[in-house]
Amino acid sequence: MTESIKYNLDETRIPKFWYNLVADLPSPPPPVLHPGTHEPVGPGDLEPLFPMALIMQEVTTEREIEIPEPVRDIYRQWRVTPLFRARRLEKALDTPAKIYYKYEGVSPAGSHKPNTAVAQAFYNKEAGVKRIVTETGAGQWGSSLAFAGAVFGIEIQVFMVRVSYDQKPYRRAMMETYGARCVASPSRETLSGNAILDQNPAHPGSLGIAISEAVELAAQREDTKYALGSVLNHVLLHQTVIGQEAMAQMEMAGDYPDIIVGCTGGGSNFSGIVFPFLGEQLRGGKNVRIVAVEPAACPSLTKGPYAYDFGDTAHLTPLTKMHTLGSTFTPPGFHAGGLRYHGMAPLVSHLKHLDLIEAKAYHQTKCFEAGVMFARAEGIVPAPEANHAVRGAIDEALICKEEGVSRTILFNLCGHGHFDMQAYADYAAGKLVDQEYDENELAMALAGLPSVSID
Ligand SMILES: Cc1ncc(COP(=O)(O)O)c(C=O)c1O
Repeated sequence: MTESIKYNLDETRIPKFWYNLVADLPSPPPPVLHPGTHEPVGPGDLEPLFPMALIMQEVTTEREIEIPEPVRDIYRQWRVTPLFRARRLEKALDTPAKIYYKYEGVSPAGSHKPNTAVAQAFYNKEAGVKRIVTETGAGQWGSSLAFAGAVFGIEIQVFMVRVSYDQKPYRRAMMETYGARCVASPSRETLSGNAILDQNPAHPGSLGIAISEAVELAAQREDTKYALGSVLNHVLLHQTVIGQEAMAQMEMAGDYPDIIVGCTGGGSNFSGIVFPFLGEQLRGGKNVRIVAVEPAACPSLTKGPYAYDFGDTAHLTPLTKMHTLGSTFTPPGFHAGGLRYHGMAPLVSHLKHLDLIEAKAYHQTKCFEAGVMFARAEGIVPAPEANHAVRGAIDEALICKEEGVSRTILFNLCGHGHFDMQAYADYAAGKLVDQEYDENELAMALAGLPSVSID
């Protein structure tokens, strides 16, 4: 076994429960507030947007939530995902470090996103919902929900951030193949989209704007709900199948991570791999260093204050305490579209506040450099988002080399980049530049943070 490359588990080993980190935290995350009253929201406040089963998962403190059999059954299409030992990358780096990666790109949509899309579609179907409206950045989430909609017979409409819509036309084709409708955001289909386009008809869009459009439509119809691909507790919860499987696979490999690295957009793939290990640590198990890697052009965890803010640009969502760049902040149009979100999951933000995790930010050319090195060694072309985790893992391995110590590094290769080849072509042609965010725009967005006395 010592020379294995892949650590595979059969379908019977798909987790039977999602793991809820909240049960093991030293202090609970701050409450979600109603935007009007600034009082904690109750389940009823969220009912126009989500089915009750998901709302209850949002607030539960139970440690384990049983995964419904129909969801596990669909998971069997691609789970258990493989854990790889990156032996060829280790050799290329000439590092004494041991590098492992969990590969979520084997899912139908090509990333971790179907783990929650299937679960969310299932609970919506159970509640009699006919249509789900959502946003998508890179298109991975939109494709995943489109797939889940096809599986459960639910109509799906996706608002895709304009810059990604233009960069990745085949993601739209994929969503349509699954039977979903995909519209570039900002659009003329909503009041919030119209307000943005009236000011700037060439607006590149942002996740915050696309969320506003989706929430606005969902709130208008009884038979329609909204779904979010990241950020919320229940989304992070569904992703914990990744870390639970990785724990069993690391055991197969006879190893345990010293360091875990994940990229962070809204925080869901990072949480998916990290939470089960962090829970183990909080219950008295081994300590793990945990590193979140984000884009330097949209650095919510490393540069954003920890404050109450809206999840969307038009201020239709409740207020959550999170690391945020301000809900009106529009990041530059860099290629990791899934990481262009102004905020960070409240749970991940809380962990940063408790010093249980570290955060780092990299510009995109350094990430693509790492992605190309990874592709040449391991054969898989990572998604631009995943390249942030690859960069973080490679840098940890290079530190091991410098210090002459062997550490075990585990990272989440959260998706493949097969629909992102324009970005790789631009990188190869030397056309990919590191973009700085606009300092004035950031200052303005932060000046607009709501003032909340509970802060
Ligand atoms: C491949 C991939 N990785 C990461 C992300 C970022 O989301 P999260 O931080 O929720 O994992 C996205 C979002 O679209 C994505 O498509």
